[in-house]
Amino acid sequence: MDSRALSLLLSPEGWTLLNQLPPYEEQTALKLAEGLRARGVDPDLVSAALTQSRLRARAQEKFGQFASELLFTQAGLEQATRLPVAARHAQRYADAGATLVADLGCGLGADALAMAGLGLRVLAIELDEQTAALATVNLRAFETAQVRLADALQVDLAAEGVDAVFADPARRTRSGSRVFDPRAYSPDLDTLLALRERVPNLGLKVGPGVPYHALPSETQAQWVSVDGAVVEAGLWFGDLAPEGSGRSALLLTDDGAHHLSWSGDADAPAGQAPTGRLGRYVYEPDGAVIRAGLVARLCEQTGGTLLDPSIAYISTDTPVQTPMATGFRVLDTFDFGLKRLRAYLRERNVGRVEIKKRGTAVVPDQLRQQLALKGENAATIILTRLRGKQSVLVVERL
Ligand SMILES: C[S@@+](CC[C@H](N)C(=O)[O-])C[C@H]1O[C@@H](n2cnc3c(N)ncnc32)[C@H](O)[C@@H]1O
Repeated sequence: MDSRALSLLLSPEGWTLLNQLPPYEEQTALKLAEGLRARGVDPDLVSAALTQSRLRARAQEKFGQFASELLFTQAGLEQATRLPVAARHAQRYADAGATLVADLGCGLGADALAMAGLGLRVLAIELDEQTAALATVNLRAFETAQVRLADALQVDLAAEGVDAVFADPARRTRSGSRVFDPRAYSPDLDTLLALRERVPNLGLKVGPGVPYHALPSETQAQWVSVDGAVVEAGLWFGDLAPEGSGRSALLLTDDGAHHLSWSGDADAPAGQAPTGRLGRYVYEPDGAVIRAGLVARLCEQTGGTLLDPSIAYISTDTPVQTPMATGFRVLDTFDFGLKRLRAYLRERNVGRVEIKKRGTAVVPDQLRQQLALKGENAATIILTRLRGKQSVLVVERL
């Protein structure tokens, strides 16, 4: 959003218009825009308001009802922390007794919002002028939050009285493509990690693919998933990590928050789980458990074994209740072959097949096309390696 669009939106007329727009619908947006322009509303304001309305509709997934109070850019929204996850970050600072948190690279301010919402004082620093302007609007309700347009690395944190730092570095290039190498984050990971010499209570949000060797051994590295999708890894130091060093998984689902953790050096290799035969049940660990290297821990907890040493499917003979994995009852199993699989599914009148796979090159959509199924029934299959062979497990969800 350019500065003219922002000032139009922030004018009394613009703000009223934005907040009176009906819920955004792609099919009716064009007509709505035409109607507004026909009523004499500035076309630039119409365009800015409808863009915001569309972004607010998208932002509901991350911000729920609060989305309708905030302003977004497409890139800022894509990079923003979901509010329930930001709330978890903020709680660490509140529990650590932080008095002034610097949010280095605050973006649109989702993390700063959650911190301010808990009553923490926040100095939210942002390099990009437009983004800083929107963060200022987004944090307007909180007197304890201040947004500063600056290079976060140039701010004298000690002189500001900062006693805790949060940073969620940008992980994309100017053209918008994702950056996976922590040295290419902005600011880069090593520079951010070095801050803990000055401010021991440091928290960083990094990409879920961060390699263990890039982690300081003393950090608490926590991989977070929301409804099964891994969204980040958090690196927590000092009083922000009361659980001490190690790696953990935090799963946020409809039925609450679930933890699995392991204590030790955060940069240690993942433990190796035992391998065993196929039992009556198969469990697919949540991505956060896998990323955190806790599959062996989950095997220990469930009494299960892996089907293959390098594939994260756990098998047991008795059903286990765990929020850390999706469980399936094994109905049938045979070696993988297109003709055989097609015949098996056609005999059972299967028209819809859910294909799960690990450790095989099969592309589910292509396979589905090749199967060309017609029928009333649905089935779930897992394609994986069993005793070194490409195999099919026909399963049903527990
Ligand atoms: C991933 S976003 C932060 C998102 C934020 N945590 C949220 O949930 O809304 C990273 C931000 O850091 C900003 N940034 C990158 N380098 C910076 C620097 N040296 N100083 C200040 N901000 C910086 C980028 O402009 C971007 O807005």
